[in-house]
Amino acid sequence: MNLRSELERRFSEALARAGAPEGSPALVAPAARSEFGDYQVNGAMPAAKRTGEKPRELAEKLIAEARVDDLAASLEVAGPGFVNIRLRDDFLAGRAAEALDDDRLGVEPPERPLTVVVDYSHPNVAKEMHVGHLRSTIIGDAICRTLAFLGHNVIRQNHIGDWGTQFGMLTAFLEREEKSAVDELNAMGQHVANVQSTYLPDLESFYRRAKALFDTDPEFAKTARDYVVKLQAGDEKVREMWRRFRELSLHHCQKVYDRLNVTLTPDDVRGESAYNDDLPKVIEALDAKGLLRESEGAKCVFLDEFTNSDGEVLPVIVQKADGGYLYATTDLAAIRYRAGELHADRILYVVDARQSLHLRQVFAVARAAGFAPPEVSLEHHPFGMMLDEGGTVFKTREGGTVRLMDLLDEAERRAFKLVSDKSPDLPEAQRRDIARAVGIGAVKYADLSQNRTSDYVFSWDKMLSLEGNTAPYMQYAYARICSIFRKGAEAEHPPSTSRDLSSEALPKAKRKRAGISLSHSAERTLALKLAQFPETVDAVARECLPNLLCNYLYDLAGAFMGFYENCPVLKSDEPLRTSRLSLCELTARTIRQGLGLLGIETIERM
Ligand code: ARG
Repeated sequence: MNLRSELERRFSEALARAGAPEGSPALVAPAARSEFGDYQVNGAMPAAKRTGEKPRELAEKLIAEARVDDLAASLEVAGPGFVNIRLRDDFLAGRAAEALDDDRLGVEPPERPLTVVVDYSHPNVAKEMHVGHLRSTIIGDAICRTLAFLGHNVIRQNHIGDWGTQFGMLTAFLEREEKSAVDELNAMGQHVANVQSTYLPDLESFYRRAKALFDTDPEFAKTARDYVVKLQAGDEKVREMWRRFRELSLHHCQKVYDRLNVTLTPDDVRGESAYNDDLPKVIEALDAKGLLRESEGAKCVFLDEFTNSDGEVLPVIVQKADGGYLYATTDLAAIRYRAGELHADRILYVVDARQSLHLRQVFAVARAAGFAPPEVSLEHHPFGMMLDEGGTVFKTREGGTVRLMDLLDEAERRAFKLVSDKSPDLPEAQRRDIARAVGIGAVKYADLSQNRTSDYVFSWDKMLSLEGNTAPYMQYAYARICSIFRKGAEAEHPPSTSRDLSSEALPKAKRKRAGISLSHSAERTLALKLAQFPETVDAVARECLPNLLCNYLYDLAGAFMGFYENCPVLKSDEPLRTSRLSLCELTARTIRQGLGLLGIETIERM
């Protein structure tokens, strides 16, 4: 049950019965100060303003009209006209018991599952994946996992940059390199006709060397330009090389995805090249709608809403004077496909904040052209840049872009040291496993726990700290609960059984017999947090803000620590012992599920 929505619904109905204007929202939110209650209703004040009534009087009427006896223990008017809600202990205990019985931990499927297209990661395949693609990949994947968990139909679209002039240079260079490799092998006495299947260039240096040659060798530059034309005209030989080059880059990207525990697969790739044949159709459709205007030979769409600082209307160029198409044209074709063929209800763009204007323009043109009907939601979910601790754009010490593979290596190296310092007695293989989960988890969590709209400062020390809102802290909280279960060695489970707490750990009959009691305030605080998991997941899916889930998990772990310090678990007598173990189990399963939605693994020992 989404508790917050349930309260919102009930109090909105009560507000109407209390005489507030039609449709006044109750505006229920978690209590700003827990001493006053668990939730608060903020809607009486704005509603009273509209009727001219005294807010506190409306709030009193609201309380009289509320039908919440099954969940609220007390309602109280406070301040200028808030209503504080304190939930019933037996209601909270009941929520926990139900969540324990449910694989989805009380998270209900949406009333109407939506088809959601998520455009994320989208590296440019001419180069190796670098940190510039990290944020979109990590944030986009958490959003996909959350939507899919809820029960929406998620269609991942990896809109890779695999088309454009740089591919003329790269294919021409590939041909050259392969030829010289063949010559070299032949000179060494190995008679080979080609090296296609074995030649795996290092993409970074490949691009750099190709560019260097392009800049210095006019003959090569000419070939490269010819190859662009050939590629776009569909010349089979050049296309074939382009395909191989693209495969190679994608193969590399896939390795990064797998290592990052990101759900993208080769099937999700639908890059810029996929829309090549649609581009003339886009222009035709814009023309048919009367949206095209020529400006200096280029075909443009002028929309009144986009003006420069002098108030002049800015063009969105869709075809250059030489006939070439643009990044925006491809994006228009993509919207047309996503709305028209994939039947998307929502299209989410997890794209760098610097592309905000571009996307606003594309969305506006797509609306005007009817590519995206009004009921389709077009959403840009921007994110800021990744900065180093000095506050400048994240770079290698030499000033180059950081390769993702190198970054992940370093993450695991540092995590291995952390784990080895902490648990030197664990076998090395196990420490390596833990280091992988912790290192990769730390990089992802550090990114996800920030409000994505701001720039974020990448700091190894912070992200690997065992204190604060970090992956290791959350993973440690989980491992600690696993250890309680190991120590408890419930008679029903032989002690050797793995206690990963992914599903029910306590025997159901025993748990039901014991029930859940919330006699200590720390138990109650924990149960309240646990009951808020469904509303958190819904909010992440709606707002595409994974940091809401991180904050929730951090609070949950804090509530658990408070409980664990104040409430003996294994030393308590039955039925309290089982009741407390039930809270432990539900906390662990919630952390595991929550981290799972973020694409972060849990481990049983740390
Ligand atoms: N490949 C682009 C880049 O690296 C990002 C693509 C974003 N998605 C889109 N539909 N425009 O800048």
